[in-house]
Amino acid sequence: MKKNIYADDEKYRIKQRNCSDYNTLKSFCFKMTLFNIKNYTKEIDNYLDIGSQEGQFASLLDKNVKINNVYCNDINKITIDEGKKKYPKFNWIHSNIEEANISVKFNLITSLNIIYQLFTIENIKKIYELLHKDGYFVILYGDVNFEVKNITYNDILVLFKKVGFKIINTIKTYENQSIETEHHLMANRWYTCLILQK
Ligand SMILES: C[S@@+](CC[C@H](N)C(=O)[O-])C[C@H]1O[C@@H](n2cnc3c(N)ncnc32)[C@H](O)[C@@H]1O
Repeated sequence: MKKNIYADDEKYRIKQRNCSDYNTLKSFCFKMTLFNIKNYTKEIDNYLDIGSQEGQFASLLDKNVKINNVYCNDINKITIDEGKKKYPKFNWIHSNIEEANISVKFNLITSLNIIYQLFTIENIKKIYELLHKDGYFVILYGDVNFEVKNITYNDILVLFKKVGFKIINTIKTYENQSIETEHHLMANRWYTCLILQK
């Protein structure tokens, strides 16, 4: 597997896990994404979360939408092992998504707080190919994570359209400084939830 700070640095893994939106009182970003998904899909056969961590978002979605098969993918082995313990009924895929060989097709794929690191035409094509016809790809990102790479909202839409995605909906929200957890890195920034369809 390619070298990756998420896979190789244990302190970084803990930091990222502790600042998960799951740990905040309101889980505002997760709930916004859930709300957006529920507008479009009521029942899902196969669902994949890319960069799922220990399955925090997948489990929230699973509680709110009827899903037959949940697949969680993460590059970090410890994360996958912890996820398996918490949610044994989910299917766990330990791989760098850029190198993964997945034969299943999905009706819904999500990727929360990691897509800016995977934002190449090759990766977006790969995700497109993993979807069934009319399948949805839902992303959540802090705007600042793209801004530091000089990638604008318009650049994002252009790349998705180039691959063949239809842009279905965008919700933006501003998350205020949280006093709920000392770890919360996700505060004081704009967040975008984008719904795309094959
Ligand atoms: C910032 S965390 C976000 C976790 C979760 N999606 C959330 O929003 O709370 C990013 C996660 O993506 C995983 N990750 C990073 N690069 C990846 C890759 N290339 N393939 C699969 N997973 C990756 C990391 O191990 C980490 O668990």
